[in-house]
Amino acid sequence: MNQELKYLLNKIGIENFIEAQKFDIPSDLANIDIQIKKCDRCILSQSRKMAVPGEGPISAKLILIGEAPGENEDEVGKPFIGVSGELLNKMILAMGFKRDEVFITNIVKCRPPNNRNPNEDEIIICSNFLEMQLQALTPKLVIAFGRIAAQSLLNTNKPLAKLRAVIHDSPKFGLPVLCTYHPSYLLRKPEEKRAAWEDLKLAMKFLAQ
Ligand code: URA
Repeated sequence: MNQELKYLLNKIGIENFIEAQKFDIPSDLANIDIQIKKCDRCILSQSRKMAVPGEGPISAKLILIGEAPGENEDEVGKPFIGVSGELLNKMILAMGFKRDEVFITNIVKCRPPNNRNPNEDEIIICSNFLEMQLQALTPKLVIAFGRIAAQSLLNTNKPLAKLRAVIHDSPKFGLPVLCTYHPSYLLRKPEEKRAAWEDLKLAMKFLAQ
């Protein structure tokens, strides 16, 4: 069942229910983008300038997922275009891909005010869009950048240090997920770049199988 619906029903005290009707999940990314851009289901829609659905080809075998758009992304409507995006571009190239060969998105599609972390409600409400995107795409691997993306995709509270360096099966989305450090974190802590590179090499090995 759709994650958002389940969450909202649980919130109003309904735990046992029969799924009467299947959600109409659009199969193409353009349609999903339209829905994201007109979404007003959480408070982030009130302060955003632009929603940032994500970008990349429908045939992408690698999906990269960050936390949430920042200031630059909010201005332009594209993911990872600021300084952390520059480092992400280098990471993509180091893995042997061009940026336009991978699909890049975020856990939440609108910028949280002052770049605060998205809260649980915002993540759950927005996860419906990520679910639709992951169903429209046919990825071989998802890479989660940073704690928020990793914990959200794997439905856990474990710290990122305990989640990185292995390929997981996402309980939420049924896809292989590798977690690694967020480019913004690596800009603050360059000494962790070596560990991130080990993670990316694991991704390359997995994709080459
Ligand atoms: N940080 C993210 O997590 N996502 C972006 O799109 C930009 C910065």
